[in-house]
Amino acid sequence: MRLSLVLATALTAAIASTTATAQQAPALARTALHAARLLDVDSGRMLRDAWVVVDGDRIASVSEGGAAPAGAKVVELGDVTLLPGLIDVHVHLTSDPTVSTGNYYQDALTLGPMDFAVVAPTLARRTLDAGFTTVRNVGAGDYIDVALRNAIDRGQIPGPRILAATVPIGSTGGHADDSTGFSSNVRFEGITGVANGIDGVRERVRENVKRGADVIKFMASAGVLSNEASVGAPQYTQAEMDAIVDEAHRWGKKVAAHAHGAEAIKMAIRAGVDSVEHCSMIDAEGLKLAKQKGTFLDFDIYNDDYILTEYAKLGVPQAQIEKEKLVGRVQRENFRKAVQAGEKMAYATDAGVYPHGWNGKQFAKEVEWGMTPLQAIRSATTSAAELLGWSDKVGSLSPGHYADVVAVHGDPLADVGTLEHVAFVMKGGQVLRGGPAQPKATRAAAQRGA
Ligand code: ARG
Repeated sequence: MRLSLVLATALTAAIASTTATAQQAPALARTALHAARLLDVDSGRMLRDAWVVVDGDRIASVSEGGAAPAGAKVVELGDVTLLPGLIDVHVHLTSDPTVSTGNYYQDALTLGPMDFAVVAPTLARRTLDAGFTTVRNVGAGDYIDVALRNAIDRGQIPGPRILAATVPIGSTGGHADDSTGFSSNVRFEGITGVANGIDGVRERVRENVKRGADVIKFMASAGVLSNEASVGAPQYTQAEMDAIVDEAHRWGKKVAAHAHGAEAIKMAIRAGVDSVEHCSMIDAEGLKLAKQKGTFLDFDIYNDDYILTEYAKLGVPQAQIEKEKLVGRVQRENFRKAVQAGEKMAYATDAGVYPHGWNGKQFAKEVEWGMTPLQAIRSATTSAAELLGWSDKVGSLSPGHYADVVAVHGDPLADVGTLEHVAFVMKGGQVLRGGPAQPKATRAAAQRGA
């Protein structure tokens, strides 16, 4: 009793001193970014000779032409296009092929939570450097995503703003059950999102919320990169899916459902999920239902290229690669149908399956499969922000929004491929990558190594 009182007093003092430090931090100066072009993603208009005035961590104003705004430090970015910081609503920042041992079974049997926690900040930094200033992390072991989010939010390490899902919820033997496909003598210990039955799934949602989840992720269907036989069969009953969504929404959390199969997609939409992830085999009825309910459809259509060229080399079981072949092409065809049907769609790469920092590669795929460049850019800005419930904070260069700004060389409306090479990144008013444009002579000298 006494001990806990002492502890409580010490804690209160510690919290008070942290708050004091935060309050004493010097206010950031007013900065004015100047660039040849700025894409207003809301109107689709390209502004020329654009100014973005940043006050602290927010955008104060956006304007076109005229002199430098009074009282602001000018950052001259030169011949670039400014856009809002990009958003990826489907990543897994705790792993990717670059941190694999190069062997599927060795990874499974030798890597643990500490290994994933150690690499996560590096993977977060790569994501930020690629211009993605906000991500939704839809599944991580051991609450690593919560710790990562918190360290970034406190300013202790650089990284994107993260909405964390904690452990993905799934049925025994399903896509979230890591022990599927291993000998029954092999036990994977640690925190797992495996939950069954109405009470079981409700409890799991509550536990995730308690541990810091911003969003709930569950596996409505089977998956590709897991060892169950099917790729698309439903893995929960309608009643279980209904219970997950009801419970999550009661706690004010949105729900993302992983689903490849047509039936599982419809079940998830009927249950009231906020987004369906992958959507590979969605049928006409599913498209109609999603439209009616305003459900976001998040297609990860770059993945197939990477899995088919690289995964055999990583020793991934052939059965998983065969499952990929069942969904890769049809997913892209259905992406096109979803665009034509005018569905709500957000930019969702599943980075982690392929290397973090490559997030921008999906823009070109989205255009190849039916979106205009502006639609593709909106999928990663305004639409993604709407799905996250953060339309008032991110996804647009508007006064009052976070000063999350990226710049690319060239015109992304003419070539979305420019978004694969982001030259400048500002997050919350802080420049994290790139900076003032150098005069041409200096740049040439720098390239010569002078
Ligand atoms: N995480 C997903 C799964 O294992 C990846 C699917 C990738 N394939 C694709 N065509 N999008 O199911």
